Amino acid sequence: MSITFCDKQKIFKIDNSKSSYVFKISDEGYLIHLYYGNYLKDINLEYLDTRPFVNFAPVSPYGEIMLDSANFEYSNNGIGDFRSPSISVLDIDGNNATNFRYKNHKIYNGKYELNGLPSTYDENTNVETLEITLYDEKTDLYLTILYSTFIDIGAITRAVKIKNNSITTVNIEKISSFCIDFKDCNYDYINLYGSWGNERNLSRNKLGNCKHCISSNRGTSSHQQNPFLSLVRPNTDENIGEAYGFNLVYSGNFLGEIEVDQKNTTRVQMGINPETFNWELEPQNEFFAPEVVMVYSSNGIGDMSRTFHNLYRNNLCRGYWKDRKRPILINNWEATYFDFNEDEIFSIAQSAKNLGIEMFVMDDGWFGKRDNDMCSLGDWVVNLNKIPSGLNELVKKINDIGLEFGIWFEPEMISPNSDLYKYHPEWCLQIPNRKSSLSRHQLVLDMSRQDVIDYLFESLSKILNSANIIYVKWDMNRHLSEVGSLNLAKNKQKEIYHRYVLGVYQLMERLVNKFPKLLIENCSGGGGRFDAGMLYYSPQIWTSDTSDSFKRVEIQYGTSICYPVSTMGAHVSACPNHQTGRSASLDARGLVAMSGTFGYELNIDKLTEEEHEIIKKQIQDYNNYYNIINYGDYYRINSVQNEQACWAFISKDKKEILLNFISLKGQPYPVYNLIKLIGADKNKKYLDAENEKIYFGDTLINAGLLVVIPQCCGDGYIYQCYLKEIQ
Ligand code: GLA
Repeated sequence: MSITFCDKQKIFKIDNSKSSYVFKISDEGYLIHLYYGNYLKDINLEYLDTRPFVNFAPVSPYGEIMLDSANFEYSNNGIGDFRSPSISVLDIDGNNATNFRYKNHKIYNGKYELNGLPSTYDENTNVETLEITLYDEKTDLYLTILYSTFIDIGAITRAVKIKNNSITTVNIEKISSFCIDFKDCNYDYINLYGSWGNERNLSRNKLGNCKHCISSNRGTSSHQQNPFLSLVRPNTDENIGEAYGFNLVYSGNFLGEIEVDQKNTTRVQMGINPETFNWELEPQNEFFAPEVVMVYSSNGIGDMSRTFHNLYRNNLCRGYWKDRKRPILINNWEATYFDFNEDEIFSIAQSAKNLGIEMFVMDDGWFGKRDNDMCSLGDWVVNLNKIPSGLNELVKKINDIGLEFGIWFEPEMISPNSDLYKYHPEWCLQIPNRKSSLSRHQLVLDMSRQDVIDYLFESLSKILNSANIIYVKWDMNRHLSEVGSLNLAKNKQKEIYHRYVLGVYQLMERLVNKFPKLLIENCSGGGGRFDAGMLYYSPQIWTSDTSDSFKRVEIQYGTSICYPVSTMGAHVSACPNHQTGRSASLDARGLVAMSGTFGYELNIDKLTEEEHEIIKKQIQDYNNYYNIINYGDYYRINSVQNEQACWAFISKDKKEILLNFISLKGQPYPVYNLIKLIGADKNKKYLDAENEKIYFGDTLINAGLLVVIPQCCGDGYIYQCYLKEIQ
């Protein structure tokens, strides 16, 4: 068993290939965190229950424990632990204190599931689960903390369920998905921040003696902060040192907290953002808080990332496309924007086919009267002015030349200038007697309403049934404001943000069930909803609206801290780049886009013969390297800080290595770089067939592979090198 309970010491121990996680039940019935780190054989760890003396601290009425200094697995509110609580529930008397204590537990094989919420799953994987139920006498509430351990992959997931056993309704004001009290504060914390076109920059700072928070209150996980936090030791780098990662499997408002307390312990928590949340829990009802994935590595940030990648590829992404080669696509957005017709679409598709591209994606502008972003969202009917033969005929023509077909939707939105708005103004989020703010000229549909979800399900299904469409780009181009629902009573208005997310999940779940072979690529103005919740429904996500390869290197670098390359939509776009105006060679654009779900987004009809030949070669290379890129291990080698970036893919059996190098600037002299390929097998020999050089694995690891940036290379230099084991 990988989850054990020592009855005598009341200690739980959760093991996997990377870590042990240990806590106990105190005499008073609280869950006391003891250890999270490298695997330990021993379970006699009670001595780790150190409780620093604190003054002014209330003592539990159930025993000796000072609640303000114990290390908790989940912290109560209002009973003497003055750090940030994990839970706050307003009861019938108007109080929000709780005193949850141990009631019972069970351990079983397999993974728990969360009603209506995405979560990792255990198909063909070794997983064990521990469910511990705590009870609060005064409110008659049961709180179940769920832990699953992915034994071979080396990850632990946690979630929380609360049940109201009383005869009165209570209000959940806060419910964290997890809490851990670490014993010291000698950590740096890493978060992924950004903005539109500039998502998931890595930020690393030393913990101060205060509280550090990341959050979203925008209705989505957001471009601005990703629901990911990491604690690393000050000496930790990509390859050495302790690293903890925490990622919330949720696509809405979240809060991540790191609190260093008076005795230099560190509390980490993450969950739904309480600022924009309240939930009325009626008698006998249950509420599920989203899952959090926790990864520990003693071998640096790179190893932590690779564990997330393995878990998400194998146990979060689902369905027909999970392990299938995804089609190389061409998207017409940056080629035409709204200005296209059937002939132009067909012509792009035809040229794309000649180059080896496998799917055409028709982006925004094909429906209603949409010639710009001022109208028609919600009217999911084909615009016959643009596509006179109708969708089915167009798709057939494109299929006939050997290309698959995909289409763009923005299901959650509504334009005030649309038929849908004319007939159903009550369907958008709104606050009575308050004017609504537009963003990109659009309003947001009230996804907390079942009639809205049903309408969307029907109208999207109709389009998907009308032609052979295998792919949907699911966009979401604004954040939520004036968040009110005409369908909910006033005491439920603070539930909308969460109900919205549940509504989106319900719609996606119904669609992937009805169209099991549909490939959904999520998008929110680029990577504004790049989170683990979305990956459960869409195994690829458009990483950013910025496709400038130099900027993209940074964005993909930051994204890879938690999310696998196989989930990152990445396209070769026009030069100069439409977002930054910067020029980059077609080779550079190809190199960067290849480290993702590869595609093109430019008018290939306007390219030269020579450029067409380069594209053909890129497609050939991508097809050759598909497995190593999408299923291999990803090693970040150099970040972009010194104007060059380098990363490698190494196959799981370590027989193949694909090194990628990009330098952003030419220099007046050659620059010599020795790239250490840490993930190579020291006992293997590798051949670079391009120049017939042979390298020993230990040389690649310790001395490195030489990459020389030539003198005077203008706008930059790229280098890709493929090494294969030889005997
Ligand atoms: C968003 C997406 C783009 C494109 C446009 C269409 O901005 O991120 O890729 O689809 O919408 O309006």
